[in-house]
Amino acid sequence: MKEKFYLTTAIAYTSGKPHIGNTYEAILSDAIARFKRAEGYDVFFQTGTDEHGQKIEEKAKAAGVTPKEYVDKVAGEIKGIWDLVGVSYDKFIRTTDKDHELQIQKIFRKLYEQGDIYKGKYEGWYCTPCESFWTESQLNDGKCPDCGREVKKAEEEAYFFKMSKYADRLIKYYEEHPEFILPISRKNEMLNNFLKPGLTDLCVSRSSFKWGIPVDFDDRHVVYVWLDALSNYITGIGYDADGNSTEQFKKLWPADVHIIGKDIIRFHTIYWPIFLMALGLPLPKKVYGHGWLLQEGGKMSKSKGNVMYADDLVSVFGKDAVRYYVLTAMPQDNDGVISWEAMTEKINADLANVLGNLVNRTAAMSNKYFGGKVEDGGVSEPVDEDLKAVVLAAYGKVKKKMDDYRVSDALEEIFTLFRRANKYIDETEPWKLAKDESNFGRLKTVLYNLTESIVIGLSLLYPFLPDSAVKGAKQFGLDVRSFGELGKFGLLKETTVSKEPEILFNRFDIKEVTAKAEEIAAKQVAANEKSKENGDMKPQIGIEDFAKIELKVATVVACEKLEKSNKLLKLSLKIGEEQRTVVSGIAKAYSPEYMVGKKLVVITNLKPAKLCGVESQGMILCAENKDGELSFLSPERDMEDGSEIF
Ligand code: MSP
Repeated sequence: MKEKFYLTTAIAYTSGKPHIGNTYEAILSDAIARFKRAEGYDVFFQTGTDEHGQKIEEKAKAAGVTPKEYVDKVAGEIKGIWDLVGVSYDKFIRTTDKDHELQIQKIFRKLYEQGDIYKGKYEGWYCTPCESFWTESQLNDGKCPDCGREVKKAEEEAYFFKMSKYADRLIKYYEEHPEFILPISRKNEMLNNFLKPGLTDLCVSRSSFKWGIPVDFDDRHVVYVWLDALSNYITGIGYDADGNSTEQFKKLWPADVHIIGKDIIRFHTIYWPIFLMALGLPLPKKVYGHGWLLQEGGKMSKSKGNVMYADDLVSVFGKDAVRYYVLTAMPQDNDGVISWEAMTEKINADLANVLGNLVNRTAAMSNKYFGGKVEDGGVSEPVDEDLKAVVLAAYGKVKKKMDDYRVSDALEEIFTLFRRANKYIDETEPWKLAKDESNFGRLKTVLYNLTESIVIGLSLLYPFLPDSAVKGAKQFGLDVRSFGELGKFGLLKETTVSKEPEILFNRFDIKEVTAKAEEIAAKQVAANEKSKENGDMKPQIGIEDFAKIELKVATVVACEKLEKSNKLLKLSLKIGEEQRTVVSGIAKAYSPEYMVGKKLVVITNLKPAKLCGVESQGMILCAENKDGELSFLSPERDMEDGSEIF
């Protein structure tokens, strides 16, 4: 029976379309999954989306849709991108799947009933207008980090998990399983920075927002998003907290490896193992925290138009070229860098020049000299032995790197094989052999050896660049071989090369690529502007919401600058019979003298607020363009102050 291998990716947040960094992880895991399948394992590969939490609730609100509508759209985009880059997952789990939600409720209840979760008090700072809880360290100069207003000390009921109870067991597990965390350097960090100083109990419920899985016995609370998300690794394969787990779960758990980014190692090597211990389940065999794929010149930002998305990259370079770049860009233990220029260079150098050339030259020579027929001519020379040695050693070397999750190094080994084969062409000079019929036996052997080398190399390449490997082998009328067959050189009897071999990899012109990248950037900036203009950031409201705002025409009767501020003007407004003071941030756009006598629009039922020590009793309306220029609003023709606006 085949040995099982269960691997997972982190589940991506559905807060927005995933960039190439998130997509990297899916491609990396896919290469590992395909490699294990080729080695004969019974692989189960799970990926998916992490869909709950306050951030997503807020994003949905801003987009004017329900959270479910929002996550449905983004989860669809994520799945679409995974499919586009060829991620061969067996299961795509969503944390809004009903069976997952049910299990999370059961897990929470089980942990509560057995005493690992208890109800306690969460102390923090509360901002009433924002309805938000903040910890001391989140505050900004002691004020609400969102709105800058005063916060007050408050308590909230919450559920806590007894983390400390399991710390010693986890330390012991680390000691007995030195292979548990990869890279190894992160193990000491977890031990010394978190486990040994002592774990505090973890707050595992929230009541300040609604978009989560309700605690079924206390539905004012939703389950903490990390308890919900981490559990996907067991719920996705059929775990049941009541003891009725599926056969699939019994077969697959514990996971062989969780593949995640370096930023979430702590969640996977401290929280997750402790939750599992509490559930009485074995721990995953390995957690591999890969480095990050970063963009040259700083952070990706939609407003700058420099976010790199897999679909844009695939539209320019093609799927396998994108897979190749990201898989080689990241040596283990390090971050990788991505840019349009670096991609163009690497793809041209390795895929077009090394592999593409090798395949095209070999196929073209077989066509030219032997009408496409490839067979061993039976004339060997010592140089063949060196080629065969390199080709036959490749599988072992690649396997060793893959066992250590050194995917970039594994690809380097495969390209060593292709480079050696190119060198063999230079050494044997087939075009010279072709000049004299008496050398045809030798020429046949040379082309045969090249074809064997290529098909073995492509078979090894299959897990990384599946389409190109198959397409390359097809040019020689062959299929890629199973890994079990890679220990032999000379399996091929004879074959016929395709008459019109297609170019396997294009060579890209940096100027053309840069022009396309600029086009993509411009589209991104425009789409970003449009979404802002469309007010995508604000939810739709009913007329009853608008009716709550009291707007009136006012005349500015006096105006002065506020001493303590270079932004604020203090305006005295006449609104019919009434006079009011309003403080407004328009000092950079208007002088006090200019404002006196002007008619403008003011919100009169806004709660008063103190700004630089002055109470502002309303707010005037202004328009702001994308360059930050301001213009206050005035009635189109003269209207007496106090007139209502609706
Ligand atoms: N939802 C959590 C994971 C929960 S797992 C139970 C999360 N989501 S994420 O969308 O922010 O990130 C998904 C994965 O992508 C994480 O493993 C993260 O480390 C990884 N990456 C995010 N940005 C990345 C790069 N720039 N480069 C490589 N990986 C990146 O975290």
